[in-house]
Amino acid sequence: MLIKNAKLRRKSGLWQIYIKDGKFVEITERRIEAEGEIIDAKGNLVIPPYVEPHIHLDCVFTAGQPRWNESGTLFEGIQLWSERKEKITIADVKERAKKAIQLQISQGIQFVRSHVDTTDPNLTALKALIEVREEVKEFVELQLVAFPQEGILSYPNGRELLEEAVKLGADVIGAIPHYEFTREYGVESVKYALKLASTHGKLVDIHCDEIDDPNSRFLETVAAEAYRLGMQSNVTASHTTAMHSYNNAYTQKLFRLLKLSEINIVACPTENIHLQGRFDTFPKRRGITRVKELTDYGINVGIAQDSIMDPWYPLGTDNLLRQLEMCIHVCQMMGYSEIVRSLDLITENSAKVLSIADSYGIEVGKPGSLLILDAENEFETIRNLAGVLYSIRQGKVLVKRVPAQTSMVILK
Ligand code: FE2
Repeated sequence: MLIKNAKLRRKSGLWQIYIKDGKFVEITERRIEAEGEIIDAKGNLVIPPYVEPHIHLDCVFTAGQPRWNESGTLFEGIQLWSERKEKITIADVKERAKKAIQLQISQGIQFVRSHVDTTDPNLTALKALIEVREEVKEFVELQLVAFPQEGILSYPNGRELLEEAVKLGADVIGAIPHYEFTREYGVESVKYALKLASTHGKLVDIHCDEIDDPNSRFLETVAAEAYRLGMQSNVTASHTTAMHSYNNAYTQKLFRLLKLSEINIVACPTENIHLQGRFDTFPKRRGITRVKELTDYGINVGIAQDSIMDPWYPLGTDNLLRQLEMCIHVCQMMGYSEIVRSLDLITENSAKVLSIADSYGIEVGKPGSLLILDAENEFETIRNLAGVLYSIRQGKVLVKRVPAQTSMVILK
């Protein structure tokens, strides 16, 4: 397959990209003759596929079941989910998750990390998503996080359920320290999760400090443990919204530790602008982690959708450009160069979160996977929330889109 006339990030000119046997074999500015399908990118931007680093596929499309979350708080969401999850079946989870994955594919996502609630004595959702992971692998690489939604020490047999999840085939270990009954339980749950992951060679992704409490400081424990165990970028802390409320002196000290530990942060902009600040009157905090300051300090940050129509968030289509647009507004990342650079947050940075960076990107020898966008550069991609014209995975077309045609008056 030959992609002609492609614009590439951080490069001038038009490029020809040749993919053979599922891999990039040539990327050049000169004209080349090649066998197979020829696609003219017509000067549009070509980038690696989008990466969704944080979604809850077991919960998608359950909003309103049994009731809508009218308070808009995280805690009403957890209560509603604990009622809904009593009714889940393998078939129910698979059908809803595949509907969401279809949406993700249509928007150019080819790599997904999904949290799966393991505070369920039967681990039904995990068993269902392990089947889905296998069934969709030709189109999407799916990583599954064993996520103890109701805590590890605060839920009956929490530790045993996580260990069972590892045996079943979870890729990543989770925790939720700010939701544990006590601070001590929270610290112990983090240490337990990282130890379990390091023993079994798994990745870690902690729901960390997703609360407006400035005293919620489990991120320092996550980073210190990752540093001590030498786990580096195999560890991710998601949300970290309490950082929005930390004082600057503490945050400065924390940044040093984060940089040393080399862990990743994932922010969920629409979810957290919706859920946080719910106990404030005015001024009302934005409740999103410090994406601008973290990235300026050299700490890796990816951004994510988190929810599609579930007890925590009623909307959502997993259009990552909408997440990015919300992020750069709320975090005040609207300098021209910041806007251009911000495309990293839904591509390269999230690839690092998933530990797939070595096989990700448009480079000779890597898997021939890319997107052709309906825009000629990063700025116009973000300004117009540009659609995906083609999503190509290892040399095969997953999505081909022809932009809608509109007839209208033309202003003079
Ligand atoms: Fe989450």
